Amino acid sequence: MTTTALRTAPAFRRFHRLRRTPALRELVRETRLDPSSWILPVFVDARAAAPTPIASLPGHVRWPVSRVNEIAERAAAAGVGGLLLFGLPDEKDDGRAAADPLGPVPSALRAIRARVADLVLVADVCLCEYTTHGHCGILRDGAVDNDATLPLLADAAVTYAEAGADVVAPSDMMDGRVAAIRAALDDAGLAETAILSYAAKFASAFYGPFREAADCAPQLGDRSGYQMDPPNGREALAEIAADLAEGADMVMVKPAGPYLDVIASARARFDVPIAAYQVSGEYAALHAAADRGWIDLRRAAIESLTGIARAGADVTITYFALDAAEWLA
Ligand code: PBG
Repeated sequence: MTTTALRTAPAFRRFHRLRRTPALRELVRETRLDPSSWILPVFVDARAAAPTPIASLPGHVRWPVSRVNEIAERAAAAGVGGLLLFGLPDEKDDGRAAADPLGPVPSALRAIRARVADLVLVADVCLCEYTTHGHCGILRDGAVDNDATLPLLADAAVTYAEAGADVVAPSDMMDGRVAAIRAALDDAGLAETAILSYAAKFASAFYGPFREAADCAPQLGDRSGYQMDPPNGREALAEIAADLAEGADMVMVKPAGPYLDVIASARARFDVPIAAYQVSGEYAALHAAADRGWIDLRRAAIESLTGIARAGADVTITYFALDAAEWLA
């Protein structure tokens, strides 16, 4: 009689077997990070004479148009998929400066296009960096005037598309802006320009460092009258459905880390690419903790990006894009 014949079924499963070596773990990994699915946010400053560090976003600078090709070339060399461009204009006004063809974003798009072929160029479309009051739309009697804002957003989107953007990404959260932008692009003969809508954009505390970087903090009040209320997950799916009906090609959930459930439900429900934006506060928090020696920056960054991918994001916008691509190389 052999001992094998006497053995009963194991009382527990030995999960450790497939975790024993790095090679085994690599073999059975369910989620793999791919820098070609990442987008790096880039700030272009019409007033900067040289790259100017942004204190709250370690490693990031405001680029002068004359040198923005440098970051584009580095991103392309590292295998990053694309850039998301934000502009700081020479002068703020009622928001019309967003559509100036000689403004920082169109100028940067032309400069990068001339030098770098294989990066997806995405232009953020919003008025907040261009208005004196810092709100994302035109103000009337102290409140954002949704409908009066739409033509300005559409003009800006057409300007960026003409300057070479592959994708325009409205982040203002005005209702109906995707339809307005799609119609304006089509009328201008720009039917091939794609729209990535910030569809489920929440009124988040995690945008703090960005507002310093882009100099766009609202001077009065906040954005909760137009950005989404953080507790509302079902409404996020309704926002996404509405933007798709208006003609969005891709949709975004923003921020990413605190909204992984929204990313996962969006992925399950909609058959378009889902983007997630790991925002400035998510990045700055990891850096701040790492600076104090409380966490390991690389491991925490990779883990956060893995969580976003595992939740179902096809595309991730992240301030870690360049560093993490270089770490993975
Ligand atoms: C502007 C805009 C914001 C961000 C992207 N576009 C700020 C805001 O809505 O206040 C935030 C990005 C980040 O925090 O990294 N509409």
